[in-house]
Amino acid sequence: MSPEIEIAKPGLEGVVAGDTAICCVDQGKLLYRGYPISELAEKTAFGEVAYLLIYGELPTAAQLKWIRKQWSEFHGLRSEVLNTLRMIPAGVPMMSVLRTCISMASHFDPVEGQELDSLKRRAVWLLAVASDIVTARYRLLNGKEPIKPQTGVSHAHQMLYSFHGTEPDELSVRLLDMTLVLYAEHDFNASTFTNRVVASTASDMTSATVSAIGALKGPLHGGANEEAINLILRFKSAEEAGAWVNEALANKEKIMGFGHRVYKHGDHRAVILEREMRKLAAVKGRQDLVAIYDAIKDPVVNKEHPIYPNVDYPCGLVYYLMGLPPDLYTPLFACSRIAGWCAHYIEQIQNNRLYRPLSRYIGPPLRSVPPIEKR
Ligand code: ACO
Repeated sequence: MSPEIEIAKPGLEGVVAGDTAICCVDQGKLLYRGYPISELAEKTAFGEVAYLLIYGELPTAAQLKWIRKQWSEFHGLRSEVLNTLRMIPAGVPMMSVLRTCISMASHFDPVEGQELDSLKRRAVWLLAVASDIVTARYRLLNGKEPIKPQTGVSHAHQMLYSFHGTEPDELSVRLLDMTLVLYAEHDFNASTFTNRVVASTASDMTSATVSAIGALKGPLHGGANEEAINLILRFKSAEEAGAWVNEALANKEKIMGFGHRVYKHGDHRAVILEREMRKLAAVKGRQDLVAIYDAIKDPVVNKEHPIYPNVDYPCGLVYYLMGLPPDLYTPLFACSRIAGWCAHYIEQIQNNRLYRPLSRYIGPPLRSVPPIEKR
C-alpha cells in the first residue's frame, strides 16, 4: 500500500464520508434542514418532518393535507403481502418481518418511474407500507385481523389506531409523534450510511431501504431501544438495578441505551424524551420504573468518564408506558427513519460517486495452491 494512503480509524470514527444538506449532528446542535430538533419536537407532527426531509422544506397546510391524502391512498396491504405476513412464524423478530415484507410489497410498487418526483412519492409510499406491515403483523400475532386505515389523520394517530382498533388518546398521539420526529433523521449513522452505499451503486430506493433496515436492527444501533427497556424490566427495584449496573461497569460491560459515536456530552434527543418520559410516568403512576431508570443511569453518567443516555434509553420507557410491547420499538424507529433514509437516497443519487473504500490486507503472504492431497 502506498505510504500516502490514509488509514481510517476502526468504524470510520472521525471520518467525514460525504456532504449532506439534510441534517447537522454535533455536540452543540441537531438540525434537520436547519431547524433545531427541540423546536421540531415541540411544534411539528411527523408528517411535517417527513415532508421537510423528503421535499426539502416544511409543508404549507395544503402540502400537509396532500401528504396525508397520499398516505390514505397508499395505506392498506395487498393480499400477497398479508399472506406473507400470515406465513412467517410467530417467533420471527418484527424487524425481520418488516425487512421481508417491504421487499415483498415493493414487487407491487404503486409508484411508477425513477424521476425525482416519483422517488419522493415512493418515499411517502414506503412510510405508509412500513407502518401497515408493523401494525398488521402486530394484530395478526394477537389473533386479530388488520383493520381498514383511517383517512386524513396524522401518521402517529393512524399507527395507534391500526395497532389497537380504537381511537387513540391525545397524549399517546402526541408522544408517538414526538418519538417519530426525533427518530426521523441523524446524518451518516450506520443505517443511513448503509442506505447511501446501496444508493451509490445506482440500485433502487427499496433495496437501499431494506438494507438499512438490516443495519438498524442491530443492538448497537436501533435495536438498543428494545434492549434498554428489557434491561429496565429485568429489575424489581432500584436497589437491585443499582447493584447490577455498578458490577456491570466494573466488568466493562456495555449498558444498552448509553453512549454515542458522535455525542460525548449527551444526546439532544434523549434530553427531550427523558423530560416527556418523567411526565408520562407521573400520569401513569409508574414512579417505580423511573426509579429503576435513574438507578441505572446515575452510576453511568457519574463515573469518571461519563457516558450519557442516547435517544433509545428514554424512548424504550416512553413506549412501554404507552402500553406498546418491546418487539415494536425498533420497527417504530424504522417506520420513522425511512423518511431520513429516502432523503439521503435522493441526495446521494443526485450527486453520486460509488462508495468503494480500500482495505489494508493483513492475511497470509503470497503462497501457491497445494494439490488437494497435500492440504
Ligand atoms: N456502556 C458502557 N460503556 C460504554 C458504553 C455503554 N453503553 N458505550 C461506550 N462505552 C465505553 C466503552 O466500553 C469504551 O470504553 P474504553 O475506552 O474504556 O474501552 C468507550 O466507552 C468507547 O466506546 P466505544 O464502543 O469504542 O464507542 P463507539 O463510539 O464505538 O460506540 C456505541 C458507540 C456503539 C453506540 C456504544 O456507545 C454502544 O455500544 N452503546 C450501547 C448500544 C446503544 O445504546 N446503541 C444505540 C446508539 S444510538 C442509535 O443508534 C440511535
